[in-house]
Amino acid sequence: MANSNIKNYPKNVGIIMDGNGRWAIKNSLKISQGHKKGVEIVRNIVEDSVKHGIESLTLYAFSSENWNRPKAEINAIKKLVVEAINDQVEELKEKKVALKFFGHLDEFGKKILDKIKYAENETQTEKNKLNLNIALGHGGQQDIVDVIKKVSQKVIAKEIDLNKINVKTVLKNSSVPVDEIDLLIRTGGDKRISNFLLYQIAYAEIIFIKKYWPDFTSKDYIKCLYDFSKVSRRFGKRLNY
Ligand code: IPE
Ligand code: IPE
Ligand code: MG
Repeated sequence: MANSNIKNYPKNVGIIMDGNGRWAIKNSLKISQGHKKGVEIVRNIVEDSVKHGIESLTLYAFSSENWNRPKAEINAIKKLVVEAINDQVEELKEKKVALKFFGHLDEFGKKILDKIKYAENETQTEKNKLNLNIALGHGGQQDIVDVIKKVSQKVIAKEIDLNKINVKTVLKNSSVPVDEIDLLIRTGGDKRISNFLLYQIAYAEIIFIKKYWPDFTSKDYIKCLYDFSKVSRRFGKRLNY
């Protein structure tokens, strides 16, 4: 089987899955059908990630700013989250994929919160092959604000020494389950981050894909992994050429 170390593939991948709406319009479908198709694509990419030894896959499913969308669209997305959990938990368990949701989850209401907790509990095993992190109601800026509040409280409670606060302190107190994204992919043609992770993408390689998310294939994904493997990651150092 493919091994990430041999191939130099990334350990931690993040994806901004953009373009569901435009895909739906292009195909004369309802926006909600674009999101539905988007969930199907997730299934394939998760499978590919397991196959290629990716350690974590972090997906941007709903941003803090997406609350500004029409109510009907938000409700359709909420419904899809519940359906996806119902349909896929068993399959994820079999594949040893551990689910984790993060973001301002309580804003989604009790029904979804309960579902999320169920899915997370069901899919935790001793030897997970892939950590699948879903950003729901996430905003990178909001997460940093949350970290500041949390760390400040710990400083006041004398649990943390102000002078000892460092990058690790921030990462440890963040709700984001992954510390460092190696490869960030954005579909849909736009070259922006849209408030995704921020702190954890400090040294990510970024690949922008023109295709809309529902058109993104396994082949496209493998090409991203391959292209990543060819990049010289210097982290500020002077390497011998
Ligand atoms: C991304 O697709 C999914 C979410 C933001 C929930 P969009 O719905 O943003 O698709 P476009 O960008 O309008 O095409
Ligand atoms: C980013 O896409 C959020 C998700 C993919 C969930 P958006 O469509 O919300 O981002 P903008 O509005 O183009 O920046
Ligand atoms: Mg969009």
